[in-house]
Amino acid sequence: MNSKPLFLHDDLDEYFYNRKNDIKKLKYQINSLNYSLPQQILLTGYRGVGKTYLLKKIMTEIESNIICTYIDIAQIYAQEENELTKETALIELLKEMNKSIQANNYKNKYKAKITELIDNLKLKKYDFHDITEILNIPIPKTETNYRKLSQFVMEFPQKIVDEIDEINGFVIIIDEFQMLKKINDLEKLFWLIRSYSQTQHNVSYIFTGSISRSSEILNEINGESGPFGGRLQQITINPFTKEETKSYFKDKMSEINFTEDGFERFYKCTRGIPLYINSFYNVMDSNQLYTPEIVKETFFTNMEQILIMWIKVWSSLNDNEKNIVKQLVDEDSLTWSELLEKTSISRGTFNKYLTNLKYKGILNYTKKKYSIEDEMLKTWLKHEKEVYGIYPL
Ligand SMILES: Nc1ncnc2c1ncn2[C@@H]1O[C@H](COP(=O)(O)OP(=O)(O)OP(=O)(O)O)[C@@H](O)[C@H]1O
Ligand SMILES: [Mg+2]
Repeated sequence: MNSKPLFLHDDLDEYFYNRKNDIKKLKYQINSLNYSLPQQILLTGYRGVGKTYLLKKIMTEIESNIICTYIDIAQIYAQEENELTKETALIELLKEMNKSIQANNYKNKYKAKITELIDNLKLKKYDFHDITEILNIPIPKTETNYRKLSQFVMEFPQKIVDEIDEINGFVIIIDEFQMLKKINDLEKLFWLIRSYSQTQHNVSYIFTGSISRSSEILNEINGESGPFGGRLQQITINPFTKEETKSYFKDKMSEINFTEDGFERFYKCTRGIPLYINSFYNVMDSNQLYTPEIVKETFFTNMEQILIMWIKVWSSLNDNEKNIVKQLVDEDSLTWSELLEKTSISRGTFNKYLTNLKYKGILNYTKKKYSIEDEMLKTWLKHEKEVYGIYPL
């Protein structure tokens, strides 16, 4: 039995299943750059539903006249020793755009033009920190000037399209974008993107991350008074349906046998979320016939392996954050003031922890009440409490 990779894997073709309609929809949006119709897209969906996987897959399939650049804000954040700033985000974006252009074969043919572009920018004073060259053309180090830096980075993709005949469009994918909230004056960055995206006809943006549909950040950027004011097109990636899950097993994991109601139980438990399906599969046995009882038993005895993602997330929380989560597992849902009262910490720190939990996709806030976003996380915590009398440390 081959185990299924639980996190991103290079060999997408071997492991990737279906998503035909989502791929079609997104490709259609991306290809509209060929007609100078840029798009701003927000891709949402549960944690582990396959947003990142899907985008990576699409990137391998997109025609070579459109350049795709992908940046993961969580990764940039993790690398930053100091705090995340607008400048860092922009510089990382420039670095990645540069890599994506390099990956194409245009560089030799267009080297002269690109050199000219860079010469122009050398006249101004940008500081590209550790980017020392673009397309092997060295860039001198100079001082930081946010205005100039932002202008250059934002204009860069459209310039590439304008300068290189074979290129019709540039797609910028920003993953784990909720982590951008760590930037103090984030608003400015979004307004910046918005202001350029209005005049650039060949640059599309796709934002995605671990965000629930009700997430505040959506309202902040796409709400009436936010920078995008409703112009961000929201596309939701759904879990696999029961039928899709069934044929996923048939196609890729046919050695696993379920009874009819055993499969029902499996689907109910994983809710069609590929991350859970794969991690559950990894603890299954081809010599077993999976009845509802056996599905349940397998789930509870292997919970730690199946929920590995949440266990990592849990261990990254501090005591106050864990405490907030515990209250919500006990009470299901609470208002802000009820929750504050139960945690007995000061307002200021309470809000900080609450916000952190929202960034991590753990809390949901709907109808003025907080609750746990993911049922699996809740089930795991409840189970631990039941079995050991206490929540995991
Ligand atoms: N189409 C698919 N076919 C097979 N497996 C998939 C598919 N989509 C997702 N998976 C599995 O689910 C895992 C999680 O997917 P992915 O990381 O893309 O989720 P995500 O929606 O980006 O989650 P997060 O919100 O945490 O970033 C993948 O590593 C893979 O194991
Ligand atoms: Mg992801």
